[in-house]
Amino acid sequence: KRLVLIGPPGSGKGTQSPIIKDDYCLCHLATGDMLRGAVAAKTPLGIKAKEAMDKGELVSDDLVVGIIDEAMKKPSCEKGFILDGFPRTVVQAEKLDEMLGKQGTKIDKVLNFAVDDSILEERITGRWIHPSSGRSYHTKFAPPKVPGVDDVTGDPLIQRKDDTPEVLKSRLDAFHKQTEPVIDYYAKKGVLANLPAEKPPKEVTTEVQKVLSS
Ligand code: AP5
Ligand code: ZN
Repeated sequence: KRLVLIGPPGSGKGTQSPIIKDDYCLCHLATGDMLRGAVAAKTPLGIKAKEAMDKGELVSDDLVVGIIDEAMKKPSCEKGFILDGFPRTVVQAEKLDEMLGKQGTKIDKVLNFAVDDSILEERITGRWIHPSSGRSYHTKFAPPKVPGVDDVTGDPLIQRKDDTPEVLKSRLDAFHKQTEPVIDYYAKKGVLANLPAEKPPKEVTTEVQKVLSS
């Protein structure tokens, strides 16, 4: 399967991706995780991306299209992929169609994580992540077994620099202005599925499974 996950910051894309990935043997390509890795490693890409990310603005289309083009060539993506946080502009969506067109493939399904803005601040400010695996926790909704510690590795958890109420405002602004048109783009192509993503995490998983098995 070739899937795209779209939704505002904190809508649950990164929470559901590992489950879908295991169910269908897909690779999980999260542009946000890849960019944060590049920023931490201070690569040329990370240096270019950092300023926009810190402000909650989108990184340029060329940069993210480049990293996705490269990442999709990985052998683990042979059976298909989950794009988490990409495409986020109509230009990115068109470039993606172009890349897939060259391989004679296309996107099968786009999952739209529909959540009202009002509940996102609590989700974002309570999030703790394990940077190297991308696993995320929430102090109230998905607490780790030991506070501040990753369940699997025992590594310390951290909070994302952009997970503040102020930066969330500009991330949401970017979502409404630049990413919502991508939802219409896929609706017109007939591949869009809307998910009620305000439900508790396990119920969202059930909804995802329903959409993917239909
Ligand atoms: P990115 O990392 O993609 O951030 P985002 O889109 O803002 O999304 P989040 O990761 O915040 O949300 P999520 O939906 O994954 O939520 P999660 O499952 O963790 O991008 C970061 C930055 O990189 C961007 O601002 C931009 O600068 C740049 N960038 C990335 N891609 C780009 C692109 N294509 N083009 C240009 N720039 C790009 O859940 C959040 C919290 O809620 C967690 O604590 C979780 O435990 C909890 N939770 C999850 N589901 C539920 C539930 N159902 N009920 C209760 N709690 C829940
Ligand atoms: Zn995420």
